[in-house]
Amino acid sequence: MSFRIQPAPVARPNRCQLFGPGSRPAIFEKMAASAADVINLDLEDSVAPDDKAQARKNIIEAIGDIDWGRKTLSVRINGLDTPYWYRDVVDLLENASDRLDQIMIPKVGCAADLYAVDALVTAVERAKGRTKPISFEVIIESAAGIAHVEEIAAASPRLQAMSLGAADFAASMGMATTGIGGTQENYYMLREGQKYWSDPWHWAQTAIVAACRTHGVLPVDGPFGDFSDDEGFLAQALRSATLGMVGKWAIHPKQVALANEVFTPSDEAVADARAILAAMEEAKKNGAGATTYKGKLIDIASMRQAEVIVRQAELIAKG
Ligand code: COA
Ligand code: MG
Repeated sequence: MSFRIQPAPVARPNRCQLFGPGSRPAIFEKMAASAADVINLDLEDSVAPDDKAQARKNIIEAIGDIDWGRKTLSVRINGLDTPYWYRDVVDLLENASDRLDQIMIPKVGCAADLYAVDALVTAVERAKGRTKPISFEVIIESAAGIAHVEEIAAASPRLQAMSLGAADFAASMGMATTGIGGTQENYYMLREGQKYWSDPWHWAQTAIVAACRTHGVLPVDGPFGDFSDDEGFLAQALRSATLGMVGKWAIHPKQVALANEVFTPSDEAVADARAILAAMEEAKKNGAGATTYKGKLIDIASMRQAEVIVRQAELIAKG
C-alpha cells in the first residue's frame, strides 16, 4: 500500500499533557491555567480504589464547571483488567458535558481492547444523543502492547494519540529498574574501562513512532518520574523529539514549560527550515534536484524534513 500517502495525524498541538489525580479537585483550576496543550484528569493509578467513585464525580463536575480554554480535555479511565473501566466510560459519557474531548485507555494489549471500548462508547453516545464523538488516546505500557503496537495504532478511527508508559512497561517487560524513564544506571556499554550510557527506551519509542506514523496517530513520550531533575527531563524529551515524538507528559506542573520548550521548534530551526525550502525552490527553477545549504547537501528529502518543522511551527502558532 506504499503508493498511498501517509495519513496525517489530527492537526492540534500536543507538546505537553499535564496529569492530575481525579481525587484531587483542588488542583483542577491550576491545571486549566497551565500552559499544557492537553489535560489528563486521572481515574486510574493515581486514584486509590476507595476514591474511584468520588473521583468520577469530581471529574464530571469539573469538565462542565471549569474554563479549560482551548486545551484538549482527556480523562484516563481504568484498565480493561479492572472492575472500574465500564463504569468510568458509562458515567463520563452519560453525564459529562460536551467539553470532554477524549478518553485515554491505559495498558492496551491488542486491537480488540479498543474495539471493546469503542463499542461501549458508541452505544452510550447514541443513547444519549451526543453529537460530538469522543476521541481516544492509548498508553503502550506492556509487553503485549508493544508486541501488537501496529494493530493497536490501526484499531479505531477514534484514535488520535499513543503514549509510551515507561513504568508499567518496565514492570511488564521484567526490566531490572524502578526508574520512570531516563538514563538507567546499569544500561551501558564499556570501552577501555569507560562507561557509555545507552537508552533502554529507544526501541519501544521507535516502534511506537513507526506504528503511529503509518496510521496517522500522534506519538507521545510518557512520564519522567523524577520531577526534581530538569536536566534529565530535557535530555529524555530531546531524544523523543529527535525520534519523531510530538510531546511528553508532565506529572508535575514544573515539567510543562520544559516540554513546551523542547517540542516547540526554535525560531532558529524554523528559519533554517524555511531557508532550506527556499534554496530548494531556487534549485528546482534551475532544473536541479539537489543543491547545497550551509556547505551541506540538500535534496527533495531535505524539503520533506524541513516541511515537518515548518508545519509544526504553524500548528503551534495557530494555538
Ligand atoms: N497540576 C497542577 N498543579 C499541580 C499539580 C498538577 N498535577 N501538582 C501539584 N500542583 C500544584 C500544587 O497544588 C502546588 O500549588 P500551590 O503552589 O498553589 O500550592 C504547586 O503545584 C506545587 O506543588 P508541589 O508541592 O511541588 O507538589 P505536590 O506535593 O502538591 O504534588 C504530585 C506532587 C507529584 C503528587 C502531584 O504533582 C501529582 O499528583 N501529579 C500527578 C500524578 C498523576 O496524575 N499521575 C498519573 C500519571 S503518571
Ligand atoms: Mg501506567
